[in-house]
Amino acid sequence: MRELLTTSLFASEVSTGLCQSGQKTLPSKYLYDALGSGLFEAISLLPEYGLTRADERILRRYSREIVSYVPKPAMVSELGSGSGRKTRWILSALCEREPLSYYPIEISRTALESCESELRDIAHVSIVGVEREYLDGLREVTALRPEGTHLLVLFLGSAIGNFDAGADARFLRQVRSFLLPGDSLLLGTDLMKPVEQMLQAYDDPLGVTAAFNLNLLGRINRELGGDFDLRQFEHVALFNEAAGSIEMHIRSKREQVVRLRSEEVSVVFGKGETVWTESCRKYTHKSIGDLAVASGFRIEAQWTDEEWPFAETLLCAQ
Ligand code: AVI
Repeated sequence: MRELLTTSLFASEVSTGLCQSGQKTLPSKYLYDALGSGLFEAISLLPEYGLTRADERILRRYSREIVSYVPKPAMVSELGSGSGRKTRWILSALCEREPLSYYPIEISRTALESCESELRDIAHVSIVGVEREYLDGLREVTALRPEGTHLLVLFLGSAIGNFDAGADARFLRQVRSFLLPGDSLLLGTDLMKPVEQMLQAYDDPLGVTAAFNLNLLGRINRELGGDFDLRQFEHVALFNEAAGSIEMHIRSKREQVVRLRSEEVSVVFGKGETVWTESCRKYTHKSIGDLAVASGFRIEAQWTDEEWPFAETLLCAQ
């Protein structure tokens, strides 16, 4: 039943995004089916894409220092469980001082299961996966909080950068609304760097990011009965200076009509027309500060990677 609802939401969001007038769009959350998630793992290994390694370096190096700001007793929740690799450092540092409950929140059961098996060996950590959208999951987790327990929420990997402009602060305000004053949010953000370097990171010479992006059309074919000819589309990465973000688009190489059987619609593409699939916002220390204030937090501490500009910021709920 749930699967049917998910498919019909996917179908309606795809047809809305492709049939609207003006810029065609597709929601970036649909990039991550099993193949897309595998391709994203491959992206994180690319020499041109330093983001994931920078995040991991900071957490490996500074986890003890980071958790020294978190009062005892504490519990941890994470928005998006990812592979669990980066979280290991924070959990290991925290459980040196007390037994711990960890609540990863993730819409995909497969991702939750792989996070659980990755982290299962850490002693004194009980892992309780929450299969929900981020905010529904956080509401559930905070309802389980024992009185007097401090909550540390992890939002790593610059996932916040994939929200549209303004939506990042709106989302963090909603996160804040579930927290108590003094609770913590550890927020990973990729930082602004030279434009050429950012473009290489999102348009790598091996074509892995191109495959990741085009897989969204493949997914529409597989799950919604679309008839996209993937060879007639190409990946585009561009820098939107006003928004401070890299945008990923898919460009039609020629004039063409694509049918979506499940929705009984036909979509006309002009030659060169693009579908906007993802925004990857790049932050500055100032924009992180503004984001914190706009969403009801203050900055408690910040750690930056030296090799690849990336920041982990510990925010304290006001
Ligand atoms: C998941 N997210 C932080 C990645 C990013 O860099 O914004 C997604 C990504 N898109 C293309 N490459 C990586």
